[in-house]
Amino acid sequence: MTRFLSCLAGAVPAESNAVFFAFEKEKKPAGSFLFGTSVEKAFLEAREDGFDGKAGQIASIRARDRRVTRYIFVGLGAEADATLDSLRRAASAAGRKAAAMGLKSIYIRPAHLGGSAVMAQAVVEGFLLGTYKFTAFFSAPANKSKTALVGIVAKDASEKSQFDKGIRTGEIFANAVTFARDLINTPPTDATPEKMVKAARGVTGSGVTVKVFNKAQITKMGMGALLGVNRGSWQPPYFLHFTYKPKGKPSRRIGFCGKGITFDSGGLSLKPPASMETMKYDMAGAASVFALFKAIGQLQPSAEIHGFTPLTENMPGGNAMKPGDVVRSMKGKTIEVLNTDAEGRLVLADALAYAGKENLDELFDMATLTGAATIALGPAICAMMGTSPELIGKIKAASTLSGEKFWELPLEKEYEAHIKSPIADLKNIGNAGQAGTIIGGLFLKEFVNKGQPWVHLDIASVGWTNGQNALSEPGATGFIIRTLLHHILSYNRAS
Ligand code: BES
Ligand code: ZN
Ligand code: ZN
Repeated sequence: MTRFLSCLAGAVPAESNAVFFAFEKEKKPAGSFLFGTSVEKAFLEAREDGFDGKAGQIASIRARDRRVTRYIFVGLGAEADATLDSLRRAASAAGRKAAAMGLKSIYIRPAHLGGSAVMAQAVVEGFLLGTYKFTAFFSAPANKSKTALVGIVAKDASEKSQFDKGIRTGEIFANAVTFARDLINTPPTDATPEKMVKAARGVTGSGVTVKVFNKAQITKMGMGALLGVNRGSWQPPYFLHFTYKPKGKPSRRIGFCGKGITFDSGGLSLKPPASMETMKYDMAGAASVFALFKAIGQLQPSAEIHGFTPLTENMPGGNAMKPGDVVRSMKGKTIEVLNTDAEGRLVLADALAYAGKENLDELFDMATLTGAATIALGPAICAMMGTSPELIGKIKAASTLSGEKFWELPLEKEYEAHIKSPIADLKNIGNAGQAGTIIGGLFLKEFVNKGQPWVHLDIASVGWTNGQNALSEPGATGFIIRTLLHHILSYNRAS
């Protein structure tokens, strides 16, 4: 556990490690006035060693100051391009460096980007996300102990109280993300639908409740698409409905559906081995819903929030769905299943139909839906599409705070013909090699009520990383959670 605290420069104890940030080609690091000439001297030394403030660049300099015995300088890149996310990423780099050096405590002076509270929030998020590691399955605990204390240095008392706010929010946001990462990184046999239900119960309390539907109840509700996907698996399916009700009249009523395929083998349309290696992350949408509710309990927003997660494996057991089978969804629409690997849209069809009964002001779904999303946008950008330009705009606005990137794809009407079936209302695939991510969105739209503001977020490309990235080690990223939390908080009444 790392403890974060805010403090004034005068309260930094003797023999500390201090972290400063610098824009490209800057003469002095940001905020250096707080530490006087000692930091400037060390910075000159770093520049002589070749440090010039490029994003991700890092230098560690020994100092003979009574208060600071080591300075760590981290580059923010060109000042003109710098955003709050530059600070978040630089804080991640600083955290990784501190961990690699075995530093027990560090004092960070954030660079001025975005305003006081959000600066501290970005530092906390960057530090916690960048240094997160999934260690639950090692036989021996990692011997590198964590940095126990991170001080965030404020210039005055008013900034210090803003930092306190930012630290608390940053911890809630980052802990929600790492909670989701833990669930997603867990091996699939240890994260079956039943085990996910246990994890879901763990986020209840503080106004959050969860209703658990078992297979018999799912059958009674007519969720034939979810049941179809479940047929090839030994593990029973579950459907969860989370609710958070604020005290007083809600400022907004929001719903989030999350795809919860705890392992996607493809079913009888079996995936090749390499494509299956990471398919434990096919429940990242559901894990994100769990994480939202974990944070919501702590944040107590003024909006009412609902979460819906269909949970099942997609397996090729003896009773599995066969290509060519037709299932009847909860909404009544029939679907010809031509590819059992396009199962996410089937389970979400029933989740969206169920959510439709709540008449929410706005509805989202998050799903690792299509490999085509990676081909279209690569690993840094999330595909989104929806029925409400206003809601799409709100996600773009939240994205500037979270640093997570989004790009809107069109729900092209002309392609609706691609999912017409000769024997059922719809088929679950379009034309091979054509607009796969859009087809996924168009299919889901069939299960959203007319007039419902709805946004589909295809997190297949961004939910997992094979190599280390700025904020994540290889594995689950938890992408989407922080953006949606910002969006939820945007409805808070001015306090
Ligand atoms: N879970 C996969 C999508 C996926 C692929 C997520 C790679 C993350 C990385 C989904 O169920 C799937 O298999 N989709 C198919 C759809 C196709 C059969 C129309 C795909 O993308 O190939
Ligand atoms: Zn699949
Ligand atoms: Zn899938």
